[in-house]
Amino acid sequence: MNIVSNPDMKLADELHAHVGRFTDKAFDWNAFPSNAGFDELARAQMRYIGAGGSPKVGDPSTLKADNFTLSLIYKEPGRYAACHSHEIEESFLIISGALIVGWERDGDVVEVNLGPKDMILNAREIGHGFRVDGVEPVMMSISVDVGKPLPPVYHYHPKDHPPELARTFGAEPGRTLPFDADGTHPIQKLMSEYVVRYSELPTIWEDAGFTRKVYVGDAPGAIRHDSCRKEMWGLPVGTCLAPFTRTVEDAYLCLEGSVEVVWIDEDGSQVSVELGPRDLVKTPAGRKHYLRNPGAGAATVWTVIGTSGEDGAVYKKA
Ligand SMILES: [Fe+2]
Repeated sequence: MNIVSNPDMKLADELHAHVGRFTDKAFDWNAFPSNAGFDELARAQMRYIGAGGSPKVGDPSTLKADNFTLSLIYKEPGRYAACHSHEIEESFLIISGALIVGWERDGDVVEVNLGPKDMILNAREIGHGFRVDGVEPVMMSISVDVGKPLPPVYHYHPKDHPPELARTFGAEPGRTLPFDADGTHPIQKLMSEYVVRYSELPTIWEDAGFTRKVYVGDAPGAIRHDSCRKEMWGLPVGTCLAPFTRTVEDAYLCLEGSVEVVWIDEDGSQVSVELGPRDLVKTPAGRKHYLRNPGAGAATVWTVIGTSGEDGAVYKKA
């Protein structure tokens, strides 16, 4: 749904058309045709914005992607995703569980273990795969930083390689290295620039009364990159921001608590929607809006912004 192409649409209908409710959506166990017939690769996708790496671009319950896609991925213990690469960056934000992510080059693999609210930005063209070695399933949010990515290129798919090699993302025994920011291997060095630990990321207190941890963007500890900005916002009880407008779209995925997203029309009229955990609103470029925490507890919101550059937004208290 696009505001510019639907000038007569009422603001409330427009807002409604930009909401993705967790309970209105369903996980798709057949989103990735390359996994068909390989039980060890099984994973489910819930699409919010665009199709991500799935070819299911025609899903009418999915919001249109401009500069990024956003989906949830669910994977059970013991399963993995075969090593592949893309022409564009792709981020994994862990929501629950622990995920091993491996990067491969020339038969060497570096593996990192990511926990809740940790993120990796998979670099352009780097072979990457992931595996759930822990005791609990993994829920994560994946964003690809382009509206319609090309299909992934597989490097070590079990249809072409022995299952043991596919499971280690292409590493023969002895060729797997641990994640180490001080490591000497070129992939260790490269990966260390693309992994963000929640607990190590500085918390920025805005004068507007909320916190930001900047994962991708121009801030201390962040991955500085030309892809979309990604931030974790914390909204204490009573937070209410003044309206702001961006030159690009943004998306707010509520992770904890509740957050109200308010849109404002040219004539000043307002409509709002309250989000609970795993609900999302995508606000198109140019739409004046603000956030409020209506609840009794803090809200945590994963925020994705469709540019790495200046977007015109200024955060102030209402
Ligand atoms: Fe990928």
